[in-house]
Amino acid sequence: MRYSCPQTVQPRPSTHESPGNGDLMRAQAWQWEGLLHISQNRVAVLLLAGGQGTRLGVTYPKGMYDVGLPSHKTLFQLQAERILKLQQLAEKCHGNRCTIPWYIMTSGRTMRSTEEFFAKHRYFGLQKENVVFFQQGMLPAMSFDGKILLEEKSKVSMAPDGNGGLYRALAAWDIVGDMERRGVGCVHVYCVDNILVRVADPRFIGFCVQQGADCCAKVVEKTNPTEPVGVVCRVDGVYQVVEYSEISLATAQRRSPDGRLLFNAGNIANHFFTVPFLRDIVNVHEPQLQHHVAQKKIPYVDSQGQLIEPDKPNGIKMEKFVFDIFQFAKKFVVYEVLREDEFSPLKNADSQNGKDNPTTARHALMSLHHCWVLNAGGHFIDENGCRLPAIPRTAAHGQPEAVTAGVVDNLKDASDNPIQCEVSPLSSYAGEGLESLVANREFHAPLIIDEHGAHELVKNGL
Ligand code: UD1
Repeated sequence: MRYSCPQTVQPRPSTHESPGNGDLMRAQAWQWEGLLHISQNRVAVLLLAGGQGTRLGVTYPKGMYDVGLPSHKTLFQLQAERILKLQQLAEKCHGNRCTIPWYIMTSGRTMRSTEEFFAKHRYFGLQKENVVFFQQGMLPAMSFDGKILLEEKSKVSMAPDGNGGLYRALAAWDIVGDMERRGVGCVHVYCVDNILVRVADPRFIGFCVQQGADCCAKVVEKTNPTEPVGVVCRVDGVYQVVEYSEISLATAQRRSPDGRLLFNAGNIANHFFTVPFLRDIVNVHEPQLQHHVAQKKIPYVDSQGQLIEPDKPNGIKMEKFVFDIFQFAKKFVVYEVLREDEFSPLKNADSQNGKDNPTTARHALMSLHHCWVLNAGGHFIDENGCRLPAIPRTAAHGQPEAVTAGVVDNLKDASDNPIQCEVSPLSSYAGEGLESLVANREFHAPLIIDEHGAHELVKNGL
């Protein structure tokens, strides 16, 4: 379906909160509440990692990708370490040792290599029994005229059934049952490719809990009409995401009187669901979810047995979408965050496209971590010992002193060429707790901050 009829579409859900707009007290209250739930073992995370990474052009699961950070950590490792750190923060805040179970959905294409990778890296310090792998289903790929395509001479070309295949897989693998047995009350569901993802973000969890929501979407403001992100809106009275592939350009380009895009609640594929809501979806609503048709380049063998690699879409894949359950929520809310804090997806190879690639992901993480160091009272100096300047950021998360590295001339457009700075998630989940390591100190980049302290790579000859 292509959405081009704005009369029935309302751009913004009515309950729409943004921690950036709110006061610090409110954000702290959400954080406290989220950490409380985590400390009581009531929060799980669920990673959607069954995609094929076709645009990135790798043959292995995207989570195993190293974008070239100074530490060379993969996306999986960054996420695992954020979980570890959050368990510690929840314990520190509320005094209970706790576990955040990590459910990882793979597909026939990614299951074995993902499991092997985790085993090889000893689950990145997590307990093996708290990392639960399960597998989504696959569907045959078809040509435009409805013929089944063959991958090999006697093998049908199969593709994962979309990230909305989650709900059938939850039933098939009794994952909701596992959550219930562990006493989990809510789940943060997210995509593998966002290098800045705040896994089980306590502020987000606390916000959703305080709202009494059973379903919530995190969004960033969409500013470019052709950006490939879905938009959260109400269509014919129900909440949903209109996917970027299904919105007409004219609708995507519509603007409000203030000049901002009308459909600007950009979906960053970070969702909150309560476990009772998931139970309802699995038991009742899953069969009502419609398939979406995606036109794709699908390699196939022709009648001579020759492998053909098409350079333009030649067929269709049927997919369900993870957000299609929003329509069944009793209370749906939206939580808006700042893009530079939380969203930099890895979709494309460096060679293909100037956007959403390993370079932009690496730069986004380093720019953010540079800000964290500045906010904690640290400074960067150049080769002549002069301090590199920074400018105040507009009241991010209610902290008027916060600074950004993103838009200042002297930093040579820091987002294009950021100061090399990487903070291990084992040292800080979201910029907290760095003061004792960096306050009133001056650093030359590249700088790594990890659980052993702050290290200048050049000085240490690394
Ligand atoms: C997705 C969102 C889009 C959002 C964007 C933000 C969906 C359907 N679309 O788009 O609204 O704005 O991310 O970056 O969620 N996956 C599976 N199984 C599959 C297919 C995908 O687990 O069969 C996983 C992928 O591994 C990935 C995630 O789902 O973690 C998103 O898949 P991807 O194809 O990259 O989604 P986008 O089209 O970028």
